[in-house]
Amino acid sequence: MAAFESGNGELGELRRLLSESQRIVAFTGAGISTESGIPDFRSPGGIWSRIKPITFQEFMASEEARLEDWRRRFEMNRVYGDARPNIAHLALAHLVAEGRSPGVVTQNIDGLHVRGGLAPERLVELHGNATRAHCLACRRHYELDAIEDRIAAEGRAPRCEDCGGFIKSAIVSFGEQMPEDEMRRAFELAEECDLMLVLGSSLQVQPAASVPLVAKRAGARLVILNREATPLDEVSELALQGEIGATLAGVFPQLIGEHH
Ligand code: APR
Repeated sequence: MAAFESGNGELGELRRLLSESQRIVAFTGAGISTESGIPDFRSPGGIWSRIKPITFQEFMASEEARLEDWRRRFEMNRVYGDARPNIAHLALAHLVAEGRSPGVVTQNIDGLHVRGGLAPERLVELHGNATRAHCLACRRHYELDAIEDRIAAEGRAPRCEDCGGFIKSAIVSFGEQMPEDEMRRAFELAEECDLMLVLGSSLQVQPAASVPLVAKRAGARLVILNREATPLDEVSELALQGEIGATLAGVFPQLIGEHH
């Protein structure tokens, strides 16, 4: 990676790399949604600086952990509901719509990619989706609103009406099995793209953070746009440290002020 002074050099380089690419796949993290008002996890003041993650094992072992997991879910879903997609979400949907991107791989669960106009079938959600829930034993689907009412009424974590198994929101917790189909689709996109654009991820969590490396090894160019350094910066063509919104406004000025 050539060392660029900040400013037009990097923006010009980002524009050039994007304009030379026909199969751009974005890999996004929580940093793409902070400008929509949703806190990320590892920035100062981020979610993990305030609370500890509930692991899958804790969820299975403790009624108290299950109730706390649900409480957090409903609280965060209200934050997601108030948030609006920002220019980064619009830009990625725009690239897909104009045929220059086969899809987006995200670690996020906030639903902003689809609300920003990305076709759902073009989105790979590696860490699940905050609007769905299922029984861990028989995989039966449950609606979140009904779950919230049941917990308010019964005061305990819900179990499956069919098999008695624990119901959990469809979000991948630390220690939980990754969704096989999504991982396979993510690696397929990584292998077919000619440029992987990482937006707003600290690239600390495996196996998700291996996706950009698979793209690089398959011959794609790697571009990282993040406020801080990441472990893959030194293998990238361009690691641009800056604000995602301001940077992409410089690349997609036509999208400034557009709202979904
Ligand atoms: N512009 C540029 N970068 C930003 C911005 C912004 N507006 N806001 C935040 N960032 C950067 C932060 O500096 C940080 O490096 O985005 C990165 C977000 O990193 P994390 O908080 O670690 O989020 P993420 O990489 O998505 O975490 C991966 O970990 O907690 C689990 O399952 C959770 O999906 C999540 C996974």
